[in-house]
Amino acid sequence: MKRDGIYFISRPFFLMALVLVSGWLIFPSTSSAQPFFKGAKLCEECHEAENKVWEKTKHFTSFRTVHREPKDDSKPSPKKILAAVGGQKRMKRNETCYLCHYTLEQKDSGSKPVAKSGTSCESCHGASSDWLAIHDNYGGKEIKRDQEAADHKAKRVADSTAAGLIWPTMKYEVAENCMTCHGLAHPDLKADDLAKMLGAGHPINPDFELVKYSQGSVRHRYYPPDIKTNAEMTPQDLAQIYVVGQAAALVSATEAMSKSGEAKYKEAQNKRAENAKAVLKNIPEAAGLLASPSRENALKLSKAIAGKDLTSVVGGKLPATSDYK
Ligand code: HEC
Ligand code: HEC
Ligand code: HEC
Ligand code: HEC
Repeated sequence: MKRDGIYFISRPFFLMALVLVSGWLIFPSTSSAQPFFKGAKLCEECHEAENKVWEKTKHFTSFRTVHREPKDDSKPSPKKILAAVGGQKRMKRNETCYLCHYTLEQKDSGSKPVAKSGTSCESCHGASSDWLAIHDNYGGKEIKRDQEAADHKAKRVADSTAAGLIWPTMKYEVAENCMTCHGLAHPDLKADDLAKMLGAGHPINPDFELVKYSQGSVRHRYYPPDIKTNAEMTPQDLAQIYVVGQAAALVSATEAMSKSGEAKYKEAQNKRAENAKAVLKNIPEAAGLLASPSRENALKLSKAIAGKDLTSVVGGKLPATSDYK
C-alpha cells in the first residue's frame, strides 16, 4: 500500500530514504523502512501553543467538513470529484484524496494507516517516526535546552534532519512542501486522476503566495526568549519568505507543466510561473533560477539571499496584513 508519508520526496529525502532502507535491512527492529506519521496528539504533549494555533486553521477544521456536500451549487462537490476519480468512495479512504487532505497515522510501521486528522504538524514538519525521539533530546533527561553543548546541538539538528524533520529554518523546504499540495503538484498524484479531479470542479489556486498563506491563521512563532508570544515576522523576514515562496512556486509550476497538459491545469501552472517570474526578475541572485528553474538553483538562491534585506526590492509587493489567510 502506498502511504502519503513521503509526499515531500525531494532528492535529499530520497537519498535519506535509501539510507533508512539500508539501515532497516541491517537492523530491522530499530528503524522503519519508510518514515510514517505518528499523529498530532503526540506533538500536543509538548507543543501546546502550536497545537492551539493549528486547531483554529482550516487544515484542522476541514477534517470534519471537506467531505460534506455543499448546499450551494457554486462550491466544489466532493461527491462529483470522487465519482470522477474512482476508487474508494469515502474521501478519508480514497487513495487520491488522502495525499493532500489528511494525515494517515500509524502506531508503528506494521499497523494500518488511518486518516485521523486533516493536514497536520507532520504534513509540514515531516513524518516523525524516525526523528521524534531525537529532536527534543538535549543530551539526557536532566539537560535543558539552554544547557545543551554546541556539538550535541549540531549533531541533533543533523540527525533529526537526516531522519526527516523539516526545521523552521529550512525555508525553501517548508515552502516547496506547501506547493506540493497547494499547487496540485503532488508527485504521487497521477496525471489522469488530476485531469478527472479538475474536470469535476476541484479547485486550483494559482495565487497561493507564501506570506499571505503562512502569516495569518497558520502562523506559530513561539521562539525563545519570549516563548509565550506568537511573534510576527519583521519586514525583512517577510521579504525573505516572499522571495523563497516565489522560487518554490516557479520550480513547482515548471515541474507540474511536464506532468499534465490538461487545459485548466496548464493555465493555472502558467499563471503561477508568471507570478513568480515577475518578482524574481528584480532579484539579481535569481538569474540562475530564472534561466533554469530547478530545485538546485532555487536552493542556491535561497542561500544567496539569506540574511539580506530585500524590503526595498519586494516591499511594495507584500500582501496587506488584512489579506492574510
Ligand atoms: C517530549 C516533548 C516533545 C514532543 C513529543 C515533540 N516535541 Fe517538538 N520540540 C520539543 C522541544 C523541547 C523543542 C525545542 C523548544 C521549542 O522550540 O519549543 C522542540 C522543537 C521542535 C521544532 C523546532 C523548533 C525550533 O527550535 O526551531 C519543531 C518543528 C517541532 N519541535 C515539531 C514537533 C512535532 C511536529 C512533533 C510531533 C510529531 C513534536 N515536535 C513532538 C519537544 C517535543
Ligand atoms: C494534490 C493535492 C490534492 C489532492 C490530491 C486532492 N485535493 Fe482537494 N484540495 C486541495 C487543496 C490545496 C484545496 C484548497 C484549494 C483552494 O481553495 O485553494 C482543495 C480543495 C478541495 C475541495 C473544496 C473545499 C472547500 O473548502 O471549498 C474539495 C471538495 C476537495 N478538495 C475534494 C477533493 C477530493 C474529493 C479529492 C480526491 C478525489 C481531492 N480533493 C484531492 C488539494 C488536493
Ligand atoms: C501548514 C504547515 C504547518 C503545520 C500544519 C504546522 N506547522 Fe509548525 N511550522 C510551520 C512553519 C512554516 C514554521 C516556521 C515559522 C517561522 O519560523 O516563521 C513552523 C514552526 C514551528 C515550530 C517552531 C516555532 C515555535 O512555535 O516554537 C514548532 C515548534 C512547530 N512549528 C511545531 C508544530 C506543531 C506541534 C504542529 C501541529 C500542532 C505544527 N507545527 C503544525 C508550518 C507548519
Ligand atoms: C498535505 C497537503 C498540504 C500541505 C503540505 C499544506 N497544505 Fe494548506 N491546505 C491543504 C488543503 C487540502 C487545504 C484546503 C482545506 C479545505 O478547504 O477544506 C488547505 C488550506 C490552507 C489554508 C486555508 C486557505 C483558505 O482559503 O482558507 C491556508 C492558509 C493554508 N492551507 C496554508 C498552507 C501553508 C502556508 C502551507 C505550507 C507551510 C500549507 N498550507 C501546506 C493542504 C496542505
